Amino acid sequence: ADGEKVPALVIGSGYGGSVAALRLAQAGVEVTVVEMGMSWTTPGSDGKIFCPVLKPDGRSYWLRDRTDQPVGYFAGSSYNKDIERYTGVLDSEQFSGIRVYQGRGVGGGSLVNGGMAVTPKRENFAAILPSVNADEMYNVYYPRANTGLGVNNIDRTWFESAECYQFARVGRKHAERSGFGWTFVPNVYDFEYMKKEQAEQVTRSALAGEVIYGNNHGKRSLDKTYLAAATGTGKVRITPMHTVTAVSPTEGGYRVEMKEINTSGATVATKTVVAQKVFFAAGSIGTSKLLVAMKAQGKLPDLPDAVGKKWGNNGNVMVGRANHMWDGTGVLQSSMPCLGIDNWADGGGPAFAEVAPFPAGLETYVSLYLAITKNPNRAQFTFNSGTGKVDLSWQTSQNQYAIDAAKRIFDKINAKEGTIYRTDLFGVYKTWGDDFTYHPLGGCVLNEATDNYGRLPGYTGLYVIDGSLIPGNTSVNPFVTITALAERNIENIVASDL
Ligand code: FDA
Repeated sequence: ADGEKVPALVIGSGYGGSVAALRLAQAGVEVTVVEMGMSWTTPGSDGKIFCPVLKPDGRSYWLRDRTDQPVGYFAGSSYNKDIERYTGVLDSEQFSGIRVYQGRGVGGGSLVNGGMAVTPKRENFAAILPSVNADEMYNVYYPRANTGLGVNNIDRTWFESAECYQFARVGRKHAERSGFGWTFVPNVYDFEYMKKEQAEQVTRSALAGEVIYGNNHGKRSLDKTYLAAATGTGKVRITPMHTVTAVSPTEGGYRVEMKEINTSGATVATKTVVAQKVFFAAGSIGTSKLLVAMKAQGKLPDLPDAVGKKWGNNGNVMVGRANHMWDGTGVLQSSMPCLGIDNWADGGGPAFAEVAPFPAGLETYVSLYLAITKNPNRAQFTFNSGTGKVDLSWQTSQNQYAIDAAKRIFDKINAKEGTIYRTDLFGVYKTWGDDFTYHPLGGCVLNEATDNYGRLPGYTGLYVIDGSLIPGNTSVNPFVTITALAERNIENIVASDL
């Protein structure tokens, strides 16, 4: 309520925010979580919480009049369509040189992501965050995160014959024939549930193509894991449809200003709360935008200059290949990827490429890939006093490195298989999906913009605990690392700062 005083306020309910809420509550602290998106618990008129994939409605996108599909074209024409403007679950946030996809709602990115739960190779983690004790991460915090998230592995015998993974077996075969290593990838989607979907014993979700607009079944998103445990303590209150707009010091802590919105995005109330401790967990983009604006507007003027710096896209790039008629990828495809091509050891351009589904409901002969590369380019956020908004300096050309690294895999596979790239999936005659990312990282880097545990220097009681702590790349899909790092940091904060 307006004017309330609270001991701990968490901005955002994604991975970082969920870990903070649970561990603070277990330590006896009353926690208020403020989330700008909806609580996805009430079914729509079709009886489903999330909308169908092939017939998206307002529930699909965050306050847009038209869908903005990542793979937005097929056979040379856009298949985006008009939708009702609504506080949907997937945000496509446009900056000058990149679109950044993010989850909106209680559970953040866990509501829309592919569930790929990858622990990076230890040497890669150590190179990315050298100030963090890797022994502790791999002995304690990665295992804790994997348990908390409900990560499971695919049954390999089942995989070999499951109709819904033909696309993955074709992707593997092509990788092997060109001499590339590959690996199965764990997931938070319940593979036992998926087996039952394949056997037509339960309502299909992954096998109905559900993923980027939410899964109605099968997925262990944060609302079912960390957040359920957090609210189960009786000490956590989650407030959806509230966007934090400002944080500044005041007597007894920090003044947190927020606006409550309705499902059309209109402000229906503004409120102010005083919190003793504030945890920024609004994601790499959300946290960076808030902190950069607060520094520029003089509300948190003493924040370090490293705030807003070292943002990266995890080297993301997508591409499709056109297979021969005898290498169909299947009409039925699970929307949860389960294997990746590992070419990270290639010094000429490291890449880890997941074999992605393209569940169009018909045979497309498309092999689709999302590559994570070691793109070293970084960008920064700056406050634009003309627009009052925060800009991100990233330019599309900064992703040429990712294209070059991905080509080291797929040029070779194409040559071996006698196949070509699809040029009709990311535009008209556009081969590479190089102008968007699923994996925003950085902007408030650990041990640079914060101390080695996420404390903001000069402002006792302010913390950062999300993907903005990671300097632009994780070498694999990021959420397990974001969760494990949050587990590490909150343990130190609970022990020292309460
Ligand atoms: P996250 O974005 O999860 O949470 C931030 C929350 O804060 C959001 O709920 C947001 O609405 C809220 N918020 C923002 N600003 C606010 C404000 N001012 N006030 C109140 N609330 C605010 N990763 C992976 O490891 N494996 C995968 O398979 C995939 N696949 C994938 C697919 C797609 C389509 C997307 C978009 C993303 C992925 N990812 C992924 C990425 C993964 O989801 C992402 O890295 C994490 O969700 C980031 O976690 P954070 O805790 O940093 O923020």
